Amino acid sequence: MFPTDKVPSGTRTTFETRRTRKRLVQVAVTVSVVILLLSAVIGLVYGSFYLYRRYVKDANDQRESDEYLRKLVRQVNDSPETTWKAKFNKFGVKNRSYGFKYTRNQTAVEEYMEHIRKFFESDAMKRHLEELENYKDSDLPKDFDARLKWANCPSISNVPNQGGCGSCFAVAAAGVASDRACIHSNGTFKALLSEEDIIGCCSVCGNCYGGDPLKALTYWVNQGLVTGK
Ligand SMILES: *[C@@H]1O[C@H](CO)[C@@H](O)[C@H](O)[C@H]1NC(C)=O
Ligand SMILES: *[C@@H]1O[C@H](CO)[C@@H](O)[C@H](O)[C@H]1NC(C)=O
Ligand SMILES: *[C@@H]1O[C@H](CO)[C@@H](O)[C@H](O)[C@H]1NC(C)=O
Repeated sequence: MFPTDKVPSGTRTTFETRRTRKRLVQVAVTVSVVILLLSAVIGLVYGSFYLYRRYVKDANDQRESDEYLRKLVRQVNDSPETTWKAKFNKFGVKNRSYGFKYTRNQTAVEEYMEHIRKFFESDAMKRHLEELENYKDSDLPKDFDARLKWANCPSISNVPNQGGCGSCFAVAAAGVASDRACIHSNGTFKALLSEEDIIGCCSVCGNCYGGDPLKALTYWVNQGLVTGK
């Protein structure tokens, strides 16, 4: 065999392979670009759809909340028995973005539950329940007003406004804590304890969409509460 016999055919093969490879690369690039473009279009459509749905949902929530509050206002003002006038309060609207972050820390939740269980099983609690069970109806007073009984504790007559934040658990627990601290100190401690401390800083108590007053009181016992309205 002469080397010259092979060289031309070899060169042609290499040339054809190169052309095929070039075409393959072109096809691959085109396919990739098409896929990329398609993904971008799908992403854009999906993103717009998601934003649109969120917008519609927010608008619906706002409308429902408004309608509910305006109905309440009409009910109060149309009743012949009411001695006061109600007015629509735009800040009374439930606001989805006003929810404080609520970290679900299972370890902490278990710690709190253990604390609550121990409290209910304590001797002091058992004595208290026994006392309540054995209390004679005839020993009950005809009327009882905590505001008069502990007149030097202003927190007892304080009516807080939780606004658009579904935080009854925190407002009630902070109220109980303030009242108890005042009564226990015989009116020396008069400050209001902070419900926002519970909503914002207790990792297991709850948020603006509800929570647990027992966990909030456990937070008060374990961590304490700062003062503030
Ligand atoms: C909801 O609360 C956020 C954050 O406080 C505020 O920026 C937004 O304007 C509020 N929206 C309404 C409808 O009140
Ligand atoms: C979860 O709670 C436990 C017990 O209170 C605490 O030690 C831990 O740091 C918390 N974890 C996080 C991520 O906050
Ligand atoms: C509690 O406070 C009231 C009013 O300040 C006072 O008259 C009373 O003696 C106090 N009681 C005790 C046990 O300190």
